[in-house]
Amino acid sequence: MSPNYLNSNSLNVLTHLDLLAMKQSGEKITCLTAYDASFAALVDASGIDVILVGDSLGMVIQGNSTTLPVKIEEIIYHTRCVTKTCQRALVMADLPFMTYATPESAAQNAARLIQDGGAKMVKLEGAKIEVIEFLVAQGISVCGHLGLLPQFIHQIGGYKVQGKITEAAEKLCVDALAIQKAGAAMLILECVPTDLAKKIAENLTIPVIGIGAGKSCDGQVLVVYDMLGISVGKRPRFSKNFLCDTDSIESALKNYSAAVKNGDFPTAKHSF
Ligand code: KIV
Repeated sequence: MSPNYLNSNSLNVLTHLDLLAMKQSGEKITCLTAYDASFAALVDASGIDVILVGDSLGMVIQGNSTTLPVKIEEIIYHTRCVTKTCQRALVMADLPFMTYATPESAAQNAARLIQDGGAKMVKLEGAKIEVIEFLVAQGISVCGHLGLLPQFIHQIGGYKVQGKITEAAEKLCVDALAIQKAGAAMLILECVPTDLAKKIAENLTIPVIGIGAGKSCDGQVLVVYDMLGISVGKRPRFSKNFLCDTDSIESALKNYSAAVKNGDFPTAKHSF
């Protein structure tokens, strides 16, 4: 990545301003999950821009069938493991289920992710406008998450593509703009049709990172175990095994980064 994007902070840690500059210059942003110090070091060394300590750890680390059982203490623990070895990537941590039901509880839990875990940004699901405004007013950097919301799985009734019908697509556009207006620094779009994700990414000035949202987003995120082909169960359609064409985890991570930066991933096969 061009050193032009690096801020003058001594650690050369990327900030949301660097991500914004990437969007503005058309450079794709790369993001992967990591949950421990060893993987974080590998992901970071491969040049990935953002590491997400996702509540997907409830599934890929803990073996649950949903993200719902994950506790704030568990995300704090894994975030602390990740931030110990991460030198360049921006580390973002998920606020788990029911930890941001009110602005006050959100602020308390986000503060723990930042103070005890070392996260630079927190992510929360849904158009929680009041909560986002409150967090931003406290100086907390926030990433929104729209589309398929795993914490709402019992309401949604399954892991399905979102925004396929006109009303739902319109609501996603409105919610995305409201999240930006509330002060969020970034938005993740999960499992939405490519054309809709393109429209949202074009309408927003903040970076829009896709997962199953097509190639026109400003960046891409995958669960690291999915893209290494080591997750238990079926690989989601939007993911790709980058390890099967190479001989090491390091080169799989670098190939993912290059494929996102060059616009070679995702293809139509990984999109909806
Ligand atoms: O928890 C997670 O890993 C996520 C990504 C799938 C975006 O939220």
